[in-house]
Amino acid sequence: MTVITNIDDLKRLYQRRVPRMFFDYTESGSWTEQTFRDNSEDFSHIKLRQRVGVDMTGRSTKSSMVGQEVSMPVALAPVGLTGMQCADGEIKAARAAAGFGVPFTLSTMSICSIEEVAAHATPGFWFQLYVMRDQEFVESLVGRARDAGCRALVLTLDLQILGQRHKDLKNGLSVPPRPTFGNLLNLSTKLRWGMGMLATKRKKFGNIIGHARGVTDTGSLMEWTANQFDQSLDWKRVVAIKRLWGGPLILKGILDVEDARRAADIGADAIIVSNHGGRQLDGAMSSIRMVSRIAQAVGGSVEIHFDSGIRSGQDVLKALAMGAHATYIGRSYIYGLGAMGEKGVRSALEVIHKELDFTMALCGKTDVTELSRSDLFLPADFETAWN
Ligand code: GLV
Repeated sequence: MTVITNIDDLKRLYQRRVPRMFFDYTESGSWTEQTFRDNSEDFSHIKLRQRVGVDMTGRSTKSSMVGQEVSMPVALAPVGLTGMQCADGEIKAARAAAGFGVPFTLSTMSICSIEEVAAHATPGFWFQLYVMRDQEFVESLVGRARDAGCRALVLTLDLQILGQRHKDLKNGLSVPPRPTFGNLLNLSTKLRWGMGMLATKRKKFGNIIGHARGVTDTGSLMEWTANQFDQSLDWKRVVAIKRLWGGPLILKGILDVEDARRAADIGADAIIVSNHGGRQLDGAMSSIRMVSRIAQAVGGSVEIHFDSGIRSGQDVLKALAMGAHATYIGRSYIYGLGAMGEKGVRSALEVIHKELDFTMALCGKTDVTELSRSDLFLPADFETAWN
């Protein structure tokens, strides 16, 4: 039996158990993947301030995200195609998150639909919205999320066109995989995955098929985004969606101070400092290099969330100390899901919680909400080498 002690253990198991095209989908950044690599690597340049002689008992990782209590400030990020990593993946991840006391965010491009997740997991999960050209469909998605009891809407702003990930094109990524010779050969080595898929009816984009006008089938994320996503999305439309939703609104994909100010001005409840895990604008700054500057500019008027690059509880602590109020994990929980289903997601959360708690203790911190830059050492050029 594999003993899981860190996120890399889950990743290794995930790679063994899930078809290559879905592993590649998770593990890709766009173009040269420089930003994808920087996201994680830049964390390693930040060092922790070790402290002693501080009573470390009674530590708490409890916090809040847009008014919701969380057992640690780490939500599950929206990830497309999650139900292809493991049968009924969104339901399993939502259950694990609810059991752990952290939010799960369902992607528009999920396999299990909003209604299916609400029926089979704990309601109250969050819904992530992509803005499509078909306004009626957007309105119906928002209404469906409200009816299902979703407690926050995460509006993604950095993916109106899909970044090119070379492997997805070369693999012919589709949902479900096409029965080509290469795919069948690879699938034949993934028995556990295949058995799960045979046993579920959920194998297509559940929020879209049968819901979007005239759409009876779409296997390709690339095709769907190219044809349907609304490239005219601007701040006026963001305001309109805010009004339409009427609940807590989180804007995802903010990497610039000016954009953060716009988000704060329109009254967003939170922004997610994110470059989409390095999957969109290759060559953009890593999220961890941007978060402090953005927090200093608008942290007083909008909650600052952080995403992109977190693979450990130490990364969580660093992001919080750099000014984030809360964080998200995407790949880190997908590894767990593909490796061991719901148990694997729970395992990813446990690993991250343990690392966060332990690191707090040795940094002399007992309250996760009281971390600050003074708990870190940064290289001289970490933020000042650019304007
Ligand atoms: C979708 O969110 C993707 O990054 O593929």
